[in-house]
Amino acid sequence: MSGARPGVVVIALLATVACRRAEPPRPWSEAWLAGEADRYLGAVADRRAALEASLVNPDNVYSRQRLKAYGYETSGWDALPVWNPRSRPIDRAAADELARRVWPTLPAERLWDGTRPTTQAAWVALGRRVFFEFPLRPEFAVEHVLTPWSPTAELPADAAVQAAALGLERTPAGDVPGLVVFDDVDGKPRVGITCAICHTAVRDGVVVAGAARRGLDLGKLRLAYYRDTGTTVDPDLTRRMATWGPGRADVTEDDDEDPVAIPDLWGLRDQSFLTHAGTIRHIGPAALAIRQETQLLHASGLRVRPPRELAWALAMYLYSIEPPPARPVTNAAVVARGAELFEVHCRLCHGSASGGGDPVAAELVGTDPSLAHGKARGTGRYRVTSLVRVADAAPYLHDGSVPTLALLLSSDRLEPGFTGGVRGPGPIRGHLYGIDLRVPDRDALIRYLESR
Ligand code: HEC
Ligand code: HEC
Repeated sequence: MSGARPGVVVIALLATVACRRAEPPRPWSEAWLAGEADRYLGAVADRRAALEASLVNPDNVYSRQRLKAYGYETSGWDALPVWNPRSRPIDRAAADELARRVWPTLPAERLWDGTRPTTQAAWVALGRRVFFEFPLRPEFAVEHVLTPWSPTAELPADAAVQAAALGLERTPAGDVPGLVVFDDVDGKPRVGITCAICHTAVRDGVVVAGAARRGLDLGKLRLAYYRDTGTTVDPDLTRRMATWGPGRADVTEDDDEDPVAIPDLWGLRDQSFLTHAGTIRHIGPAALAIRQETQLLHASGLRVRPPRELAWALAMYLYSIEPPPARPVTNAAVVARGAELFEVHCRLCHGSASGGGDPVAAELVGTDPSLAHGKARGTGRYRVTSLVRVADAAPYLHDGSVPTLALLLSSDRLEPGFTGGVRGPGPIRGHLYGIDLRVPDRDALIRYLESR
C-alpha cells in the first residue's frame, strides 16, 4: 500500500504541469490566433455559432441572408463551388495593353497555391495578396474607363487623368491599386475590383493600405459607362448613383438608399463592433473572417465561394495594417489642454485605445438616423467611430456629411441656412458634443484630435 504513495505524488505533479500548460494563450498572440484559425477552418458548428453570436440584429437583411444560408455544411452557401482565381494586378504594362484592347496575359498559377500557412507572418502575407488581388467582381464601368469600348474607338488622351479624378488612382510607376485582370467564374477575361479599390489610397505617390479611397466615385463611373454605351437605365437608379460618391459606397444588396463613408481600417482589433451601424459584434477574428467570406461570396453573385483559408488570411492582414504616422505636435501645451477637454467631454464614448467605443442609440447621438434604422444593416445604433488619424479622415460621420473637424465642433452647421455640408445645403444635425465650448477650447480639442 505504501508503495502507491510516490505514484500519487507523481500524478499530482503531472497534473500541476498539465494545468500550467493548459493556461489559455494570451489573446492576439500567435498561439491564440492559431487556435482561432483551427476553430474557424474546422468544425462547421463553430462557424455557425460564431456567426450567430456576431449578428447584432437578426432581423435586418444582412443578418437574415446569413442566418439562412451560412454554416450548413452541405447546403446553402457551403455548397457553392470553391473558387481560387487567376488574377493579375493592373500595372502600367497591363493598363497599356488594355488601352489597345489587348487582354494582358494572366499568370499560370492561381492566386493561392493551396497550402495552408503555418505562421502568422505567412497568413498576413497571403492576406495582403487577397486584399490587393482577389477579384470581388467584374466592374464594367471600370473596364470601360481603361478600354476603348469599340474596336474602332480610342481612349481619350487624358483617360488616365479622368480616371484618377474619379478615384482610379495611379502610383508614379503606373500601377492602379485595387484593379485586376482576371478569369471570371465563366472563364472570360475581365477587369475586376478588389478590396484595395476602396480601402487603399495613393498619397504622395505611395500606396497607403487601409486608407479609405475618398476620391472614388463608383456612381459617376457607372453613369459614364451608361452614357457612353447608350445603355438605358432606370431614372431612379441614375439619380441614386449621382448621390453616392465620392468616398461613399453602398456595399449592401438591397434597395435602401444608404451609401456610407468608406472607413479607414486602422485599429480593427480594438473595435468592439464593425460597420457604422455596428451590424457585427466583433467577438473575435472569426467574426471578421466570416464577414469577409460572406462579402466575397456575395460579391461573386452567389456563384462561388472563396477558399476559407483566404478569408482567414484576409482577416489576419486587416488586423496587421498600421496607420501612417500621426502629424507632429507643434504646440504641446495646447494639445495637452485639448487632451484634458477630451477626457471630460468625449472619453465617455470614445474610450477605447483607438478612440472608438460601443455603439450608442441613433437618437442619442442625433445624426441622420436612416442608416441605423434601415432594414439593410440597421441596429438602431451607431458605433462610436475610432479616432486614429482622424485629422485625415474627413469628411466626417457615417454619411460623410461634415467637411472638417472645425465644423463638426461648430454650431454653424445646425443653422437652417447652412450650405457648407458635403452632401448639399441644409443643417447637419446631431453629435453636439463640444459644440458649446469656448472657441479657444474647441481649437485645443481640434489640435489634440490632430495629434491622434
Ligand atoms: C466599393 C467599395 C468597397 C469595397 C470594394 C470593399 N469595401 Fe470594405 N467597406 C466599404 C464601406 C462603404 C464600408 C462601410 C460599411 C458600413 O459601415 O456599413 C466598409 C467597411 C469595411 C469594414 C468594417 C470597418 C469598420 O470600421 O467597421 C471592413 C473590415 C472592410 N470594409 C474590409 C473590406 C475588405 C477586406 C474588402 C475586400 C474583400 C472590402 N472591404 C471591400 C467599402 C468597400
Ligand atoms: C454619447 C457618445 C459620444 C460622445 C460623448 C462623443 N461622441 Fe464622437 N461620436 C459618437 C458617435 C456615435 C459617432 C458616430 C456618429 C455617426 O457616424 O453618425 C461619433 C463620431 C465622432 C467623430 C467622427 C469621426 C469620423 O471619422 O467620422 C468625431 C471626430 C468625434 N466623434 C469626436 C468627438 C469629440 C471631439 C467628442 C467630445 C467633444 C465626442 N466625439 C463626444 C459618439 C460620441
